[in-house]
Amino acid sequence: MAGHVAKSYEHLQGKLQGISNPQLAAHLTLYQGYVKKLNEIWEKLPRTDRALVNYSFGDYSELRRREPVAYNGTVLHELYFDGLGPDGQPSPELKKAIETAFGSYDAWVQDFKACGASAHGWVLLGWDPLRNQLANNLIHGEHHIGLFAGYQPILALDVWEHAYFLDYQTKKGDYLSAYFKNLNWKTINERYARGAAAAHAASR
Ligand SMILES: [Fe+2]
Repeated sequence: MAGHVAKSYEHLQGKLQGISNPQLAAHLTLYQGYVKKLNEIWEKLPRTDRALVNYSFGDYSELRRREPVAYNGTVLHELYFDGLGPDGQPSPELKKAIETAFGSYDAWVQDFKACGASAHGWVLLGWDPLRNQLANNLIHGEHHIGLFAGYQPILALDVWEHAYFLDYQTKKGDYLSAYFKNLNWKTINERYARGAAAAHAASR
């Protein structure tokens, strides 16, 4: 199976407000760890005996059980880091879609922060194909528990303690506020236009 190459986010050093360079550097090291584990799983799967399967424990079973953790740990961190580096504002199209789904931009932020305060894990904004609108999705406990099937995230907030504890310790609310000052709306708008908006148009 093909491996995945960890992306570089060195350009974010010194560019974030309220997320320090040591915090960012530590977080990037953890991200690289997820990529390493994903590649390790993918490398081992083809040469692990498929007879070694068992609900309690089996080498093949365990690799398959942990694969979504490393996979989503990789994808969600890239969504998070790609969406940082303050630039632009929400596009009129995205703003309208947020208002349709949540009533107002501020109501979306309020709900997004409430999700973030509810667990350690991830908060996503993305396209919900079932309700045919944007929705917040809380991933809790690990990187895959709670993810809506078919959901297309355009924005990811890491609310694991490792994302903010160096800078904020137990003041998680301050980290949630800092996150909103660092969004790269240019990238997020493009994601919305490319994925979610296309899904919306196709469903009409
Ligand atoms: Fe993280």
